[in-house]
Amino acid sequence: MTDPMTAPTPAPVSARTPPPPPAPTTSPAAARRARRRDRRVYLRSHPLLFALLAATRRRPVVRLGRTVLVHGTEAYREALTKVPLDRTAPGTTGGAAAELTDGGLLFDQDGAEHRNARRALAGGLDTAAQQRIRPHWQAVLAKRIPDLAAGEIELVALARELAGVTAAALTGAQSCPHRLAHAAAEVAAHAARDHLPGPRRRGPDAAAATVDAAARLAALLPDAPDAPDARDARDAMVAVAAVNTTVAALPRAVAWCADAGLWPTVSETTALRLAAELLRLTAPSPLLPRVAAADTTLAGHPVRAGDRLVLVARHAARAHRRGPADDPAATQAVFGAGPHACPGAGLARALLADLLLALAPHHPVVTRARVDRRSALPGYAELTVRRGRS
Ligand code: HEM
Repeated sequence: MTDPMTAPTPAPVSARTPPPPPAPTTSPAAARRARRRDRRVYLRSHPLLFALLAATRRRPVVRLGRTVLVHGTEAYREALTKVPLDRTAPGTTGGAAAELTDGGLLFDQDGAEHRNARRALAGGLDTAAQQRIRPHWQAVLAKRIPDLAAGEIELVALARELAGVTAAALTGAQSCPHRLAHAAAEVAAHAARDHLPGPRRRGPDAAAATVDAAARLAALLPDAPDAPDARDARDAMVAVAAVNTTVAALPRAVAWCADAGLWPTVSETTALRLAAELLRLTAPSPLLPRVAAADTTLAGHPVRAGDRLVLVARHAARAHRRGPADDPAATQAVFGAGPHACPGAGLARALLADLLLALAPHHPVVTRARVDRRSALPGYAELTVRRGRS
């Protein structure tokens, strides 16, 4: 069988056709080290929630009162493609999107309305768009990575800058990439407090804080005279979706690569596949909170309208297991499934592949790592690397 780590890298991948996962080419001890550090990101940010999920993950579907935990790869896919979902229910991604944008924006849409919105967005994220945006992040890498030769670099700040220039290029914003990334992160952090399962911290102050954060982000985005409301809302949503996932994902993937000793395997021909595998292993967006819209069944289990579904992308991607997933559905799971599957998946993989390629000659090692307990997605507040021995 061809070793996927050495097979030629295909053209940039789309969200629906993830590449097969690469075979692990690291020692078991190094792989354990990488997994151990990455687990801390979950356990420090939401210890009880992730302990509960770990304790129940052996069964594909587990009911706890009106909450249904979905762990299995097939069940997860079925939940996203066959179960009718209430896209605007409070405490879901769509509910948060509807609140932030006055509704009508991708996550909270269905049917023809959603298909039209996806079509409008598609051209901005396809392979041609990636090629247009790529020089922006390449310029950041060319400016920042040489610092490694002399000392250390901090990956969270770098990821924020990369996410900021990407979001600016996607939306046409002229604002400072750091401010744009910061404003998008603030919106997501406020929205996430109403989003993850657990006690809600709602009230007039929380709602006002979310609205204020959304207004600060909107002020950094360009006005769209043709269709101001729709375009502004779309830009804000794309910025939030792109920045937060990228800032969470890139440092975790780099830490895994460093701890697992994977730098010697990174090359032009392998980087894209390794990026896909690191995203599967780290599952940056680990939980998708959804609500069933009608009575149905899921993997043979009855589901009632109004049941809260906690779709565990991390387990559907088999990120908690050792070894490769050997299943394209597991690799895809970190980007969702079906009509709402992440349209930015190809862009995210391409950006991570370029970051790995830029770092690899320096064989970076992690010198400091601090988990961010406040961010919307599990991630680091600081991840510093220094040049290692090549
Ligand atoms: C590692 C990075 C990323 C991860 C892990 C990720 C993950 C996800 C997931 C799990 C969903 C929900 C899918 C579903 O409900 O089936 C989603 C949706 C979405 N993502 Fe991403 N994403 C990433 C990067 C990006 C980027 C870079 C962009 C924009 C450039 C983006 C834009 C979106 C949008 C607009 C949606 C809503 C799609 C819809 O509802 O139709 N994402 N993403």
